[in-house]
Amino acid sequence: MNALKPKVSIIGAGSVGSTFAYTLMMSGLAREIVLIDKDELRAQGECMDLNHGLSFARPAKIYAAGFEGCAESDIVVVTAGAKQIPGQTRIDLCQKNVEIFKGIIPSIVRYAPESILLVVSNPVDILTYVTMKISGFPSSKVIGSGTVLDSSRFKYLISEHCKTDPRNIHAYIIGEHGDSELPVWSNANIGGMLLEKYCLICNHLCDNKVAWDNIFEEVKTAAYKIIEAKGGTYYAIALALGRIVEAILRDENSILPVSTLINGYYGVNDVCLSIPSKVNRSGVENFLALELSDVEQKQFKHSADTLQEIIKHIQF
Ligand code: LAC
Repeated sequence: MNALKPKVSIIGAGSVGSTFAYTLMMSGLAREIVLIDKDELRAQGECMDLNHGLSFARPAKIYAAGFEGCAESDIVVVTAGAKQIPGQTRIDLCQKNVEIFKGIIPSIVRYAPESILLVVSNPVDILTYVTMKISGFPSSKVIGSGTVLDSSRFKYLISEHCKTDPRNIHAYIIGEHGDSELPVWSNANIGGMLLEKYCLICNHLCDNKVAWDNIFEEVKTAAYKIIEAKGGTYYAIALALGRIVEAILRDENSILPVSTLINGYYGVNDVCLSIPSKVNRSGVENFLALELSDVEQKQFKHSADTLQEIIKHIQF
């Protein structure tokens, strides 16, 4: 753990892992980036390709290694596992990826017992919970990418509809990173003005109920459409990972809807799912107990129950 030379290890050199490695290299956030994959040649090839671009980025040591390469990592990002194919849900990957995680998490813990674990593989909420159980790490140090990506899709689609810079929109998708996720319309805002108030002054005169339903539907089905079109998603998820890693390495106390262990929120306990949470050098410091509307509370409980129903059948 070297604050002057942050080290990030990436397990899985597939499209998400290698695109994130590129994102991380271009950000200059890490001074050491390790790519670990069972296909060693692939990992070596990705590192060669990245290193050849270093003169356009910032100095960093980028190399492929076995799990021993995780040693002294500040953060270990886990992207390994089977990926969604057309027609599959993220939950469909559960059994296979839980078995893969049972194999890799102990190796990460052996070499990087002080690291923060950032889980990306799907179903990410289940695998975040499984990682927490297998690693024995405090829940604050086991983070899932959760609905950071979904919330970015949400902000983009609202920004397109309302013709506003997405950076001036605060709007969250919470719950499962998956089919039971839900939009928190009740506190979505543009420049601090609640969306429902903004609609009253906006001169687009759209039927906002229809527009809002369409926007959420587009968020929820985005990954399916992209997978159908090009076989997988990796640019936006890599940028979402870059944002989470930045908040950790720069100790930013950023509020991000990462997947984290939730206890005591609207009756939800002992499950990992996404709520806006404070992220800093220690990992997830706490989650924000957002006030939800009655409908949102029901949807959130349904999302938690959906995940818990799966977790209870997993053999640790
Ligand atoms: C997606 C993948 C990361 O939503 O689950 O694109």
